[in-house]
Amino acid sequence: MPSIAIIGGTGLTNMPGLTVHHREMVKTVYGAPSSPLIHGELDGQSVIFLARHGRRHTIPPHMVNYRANLLALSEVGVTHVIALAAVGGIADTCLEKTIVIPDQIIDYTHDRAHTYYGAKTDTFQQIDFTEPYSSLVRERLLEACKSASVNHVPTGVYGATQGPRLETAAEIRRMENDGCTIVGMTGMPEAALARELGLHYACCAMVVNRAAGKVGTGIDFSRVESNVAESVGFIRQVIAEVLKLGF
Ligand code: HPA
Repeated sequence: MPSIAIIGGTGLTNMPGLTVHHREMVKTVYGAPSSPLIHGELDGQSVIFLARHGRRHTIPPHMVNYRANLLALSEVGVTHVIALAAVGGIADTCLEKTIVIPDQIIDYTHDRAHTYYGAKTDTFQQIDFTEPYSSLVRERLLEACKSASVNHVPTGVYGATQGPRLETAAEIRRMENDGCTIVGMTGMPEAALARELGLHYACCAMVVNRAAGKVGTGIDFSRVESNVAESVGFIRQVIAEVLKLGF
C-alpha cells in the first residue's frame, strides 16, 4: 500500500486544503526533521506533509537536516515522495510561473551531510543514480500537469547550488553551459538520500524568477513573492490530480 509524502519548500510551509489528523514529532539517529510530520487528508487521500524549511520558514537550504527529513519519512512507512521546490529558470522555456518536472540533476552543493553511509553504519552500498528521480512519480506528475492544464516543461536539469545567496550571472552562464535548465538550492542531497532509502522520489518545481543575468535587472524579490503565491495555486492543482491518479 503506497504511502505518500509531500515535502513543501519555499511558499509551501503549509499545504492549502490539508485536513490535519495529527502531528508527529519523530526523532531519528540523525536528529529531528525540519518540522513535525503532519498526517492528514488531502483531496480524500491520506498524505504526510513535511515543511523542508521548518514551520516558520527559518531553516536555510544549507542548514536543512536532509538526512533526518528523509529518514523520518521512511521510518513512518512513506514509500512515495513528491518534493516541491521554488527554482530559478535558466532555459528560455523555463519562464516565471512554469512548472518543471526535472529528470536530471547536477550537484554544485558542498559541505552538506549527503549520505547515510558513514559513522553510523558499518557498511556502505553504491546507489545507481543514473536516473536520479523515480520514473513512476515523474510520470504521475506529468499526467497530473496535463490533466490540470498547467503550463509545464516535462523534463529539465536541476542545478543544485549551495546558497543561501543567489548565483552570479557568470555562475548561471556556467551552469547553462553544463546543461542546467533550472536552479535551486534544496534538490541535493535530498534526491540522493531518498534513493539510498529506496524511496520513490521526484521533484515538482515552480519557476519563481528568471535566473541571475537572464533579465537585464537584478532579481526583483517582490515579483518573486507574487510568483510564488500564484505558482502555489498551480502546484496545488497538480497535487490534486496526482492524488486522484494514485500510485
Ligand atoms: N537560484 C537558486 N535558488 C532559487 C532561485 C534561484 O534563482 N530561485 C528560487 N530558488
